[in-house]
Amino acid sequence: MSEPPAELTIGELAQRSGVATSALRFYERQGLISSRRTSGNQRRYPRAMLRVVAFVRASHHLGIPLEVIGGVLDFLPEGAAPDQAFWQRASQCWSTELNQRIEKLECLRDRFTECIGCGCLSFEQCVLVNPGDVLAAQGPGPARLIND
Ligand code: FES
Repeated sequence: MSEPPAELTIGELAQRSGVATSALRFYERQGLISSRRTSGNQRRYPRAMLRVVAFVRASHHLGIPLEVIGGVLDFLPEGAAPDQAFWQRASQCWSTELNQRIEKLECLRDRFTECIGCGCLSFEQCVLVNPGDVLAAQGPGPARLIND
């Protein structure tokens, strides 16, 4: 059996990761992955880049913004692949954030229920149009003008 190649072309990386070449180029422009160029200006990726792409995909599926993912990848030593421990640390941090987002969405869903079929879009009544109406506690009317 032959040794796997030390470097991958963009087509090979796309095939092995299931990520389109256009997305890989985008990741590279965003600084998430990197390659060297051959004398013919073709990209060559170290094999470790497969795990970086897997890390980016898994993180992005959680809804983590690419710039945040890039910030976490900056902690990787040059040329290193994210290992199990690296993913565990990142995913534990993001688990808290994910739970907070789920709570916010559940709250939004509960508020949205009142709006379904309503259509008033009222600044006085609709909690989605005017969420967290802090001035409402000061009474009706132009609270800022009255109280100043
Ligand atoms: S649209 Fe009427 S309560 Fe939101």
